[in-house]
Amino acid sequence: MADNKKYSVLFVCLGNICRSPAAQAVMQAMVDRRGLTERFFIDSAGTGGWHIGDLPDKRMRVHARPRGYELTHRARKVHASDFEDFDLIVGMDAANVDDLRDLAATIEQQDKVVMMGDYIRLYPNYDYVPDPYYEGSEGFELVLDLLEDSCENLLDRIIEQNNISQ
Ligand code: 4NP
Repeated sequence: MADNKKYSVLFVCLGNICRSPAAQAVMQAMVDRRGLTERFFIDSAGTGGWHIGDLPDKRMRVHARPRGYELTHRARKVHASDFEDFDLIVGMDAANVDDLRDLAATIEQQDKVVMMGDYIRLYPNYDYVPDPYYEGSEGFELVLDLLEDSCENLLDRIIEQNNISQ
C-alpha cells in the first residue's frame, strides 16, 4: 500500500440503518484507539434503498451509545463505483455477500467482498451478523457484541496483510 493512500473499508447490510452503520462506528473507534485514524477510511452502505438519507435506527443508536459509539451516518445505497473506490467490502450476512458479488463488475471486484461472519471468534454459534430490525433489545446487543469481536479480528488481519503502521 502506498504510504499516502488510506486503506478503505465499506461495511454493507440490507438497510444501512442497523448493522453496517454500527460496524462503521465500532471499526472507526478501534482504528482511532490504535492511532491509525490517518491510515483508514471507513464507510457503510445498504443493498436496499428504502432508508436513503436516514440516520441509523433509533434502537441501534440507543444501544450503541453506552458503549461509546455515536452513530451519525446517513444511509446510502451501494454504488457501482464503490467496487473501484474501496479496498475491502464487508457483508454482514450471506444475502448481503451474494448481492454484493452480483453487483461486482469483475472478478477482481468480487474478490474485494468478504463476509463479516468469517471474523467472529468469540461466538461460535454465529457465522453472520443477524438482522436485528424485527428483534427486541437482545438483537441489537447481540449485533454490537458480534461487531466488537469481528472488527477486532478483521482489523488485525487488514493490518497484518497490508503492513499498516502508524
Ligand atoms: P440493517 O437492518 O440491514 O441491519 O440496516 C434492516 C433495516 C431496515 C430493513 C431491513 C433490515 N427494512 O426492511 O427496512
